[in-house]
Amino acid sequence: MNDTEMMKAAVFHGRNDIRVEEVARPRAGAGEAVIRITLTTICGTDLHILRGEYPVRPGLIVGHEPVGVVAELGAGVTGYEVGDRVLVGAITPCGQCHACLSGHLSQCGHGEGYEAIGGWRFGNTVNGAQAEYLLVPNAQANLAKIPDELSDEQVVLLADIASTGFGGAESGNIRIGDSVVVFAQGPIGLCATAGAKLMGATLIIGVDGDDTRLAMSRRMGADVVLDYRNLDVVAEVQKLTSGGVDVAIEALGTQQTFEDALHCLRPGGTLSSLGVYSGKLQIPYEALAAGLGDHRIVTTLCPGGKERMRRLMEVVRSGRVDFTPLLTHTFALDKIADAYQLFGSRADGVLKVAIKP
Ligand SMILES: NC(=O)c1ccc[n+]([C@@H]2O[C@H](COP(=O)([O-])OP(=O)(O)OC[C@H]3O[C@@H](n4cnc5c(N)ncnc54)[C@H](O)[C@@H]3O)[C@@H](O)[C@H]2O)c1
Ligand SMILES: [Zn+2]
Ligand SMILES: [Zn+2]
Repeated sequence: MNDTEMMKAAVFHGRNDIRVEEVARPRAGAGEAVIRITLTTICGTDLHILRGEYPVRPGLIVGHEPVGVVAELGAGVTGYEVGDRVLVGAITPCGQCHACLSGHLSQCGHGEGYEAIGGWRFGNTVNGAQAEYLLVPNAQANLAKIPDELSDEQVVLLADIASTGFGGAESGNIRIGDSVVVFAQGPIGLCATAGAKLMGATLIIGVDGDDTRLAMSRRMGADVVLDYRNLDVVAEVQKLTSGGVDVAIEALGTQQTFEDALHCLRPGGTLSSLGVYSGKLQIPYEALAAGLGDHRIVTTLCPGGKERMRRLMEVVRSGRVDFTPLLTHTFALDKIADAYQLFGSRADGVLKVAIKP
């Protein structure tokens, strides 16, 4: 192979072992596209992969947050040109299976019925975005053209964390005038806070234990921030809301935050859960009024597909929200190991790292 057939990519080899290597550049088959990555980032879920907590096959290229330029279009992909700037969601639904056509794009069944988490392919079941080039499956359903006036930095966080955070607010069915608490103000929780504001919540309470993140929580729309390290958060939320919030969003994935979120709900309230859980998750019956409190618990996997991306880009283009303050650091792809180290340590006020191939 000559140089133009090779590319650099971050390859997962095993626990705590991701290396930038030369690998074969992908080629677009029918219905596929290859994009040249211009900007990507690292997700909390990539840390779960790196630490061996979420299994993927050794040899896989990781990452699922791609911004790039169309480099090659496979047969049957129409309405695009080589050179188009595109955003691709972390979740790439096929748009044709039973699940997709029933509106459950993230649980895409790959042509069959439903498959749990089936829409999450990049850096999970197929090669991902932390590379110079990325093969996009089901390109017709997943290439979202970026409006000229938006920069890569303005859209990169829409692929996953904004879509997920907004998804948590949407699944919670927040109504104008609602009170909302958001547990954890990491990147996902911060986007859920911004989503709650967009949807018309009038009291938004952000909970975290990190001063930088609590400050960013206010910037993203929280009216009140609570530090779980030195407060009984549930009691404080009950007091602030005279008996519980309409919607509690969980954005960490632990027993503690799940339970706290449930204990903050008013009767008839909704717990909207975004965290990735491992091990056993228990529901305390008293928080559910013994099962008779008309509570709802909903979970959400990041929504994807080009129409979702188009809508999110419109939210940014119209000036309703700006996520660029969350991109706190920038690294070259060659230095991605340092980026993982910083992102994983949460040091230096890091929220999201921009990775440039
Ligand atoms: N549902 C989805 O589609 C989806 C998509 C991407 C990520 N995720 C998951 O979302 C979760 C959050 O991701 P992230 O990158 O924002 O996380 P993160 O690790 O960057 O942030 C977690 C935050 O939780 C705070 N925290 C710790 N204990 C707390 C407590 N008891 N109460 C309140 N806050 C507490 C920490 O201070 C930190 O700021 C992860 O589990 C991730 O895997 C879900
Ligand atoms: Zn992710
Ligand atoms: Zn599908």
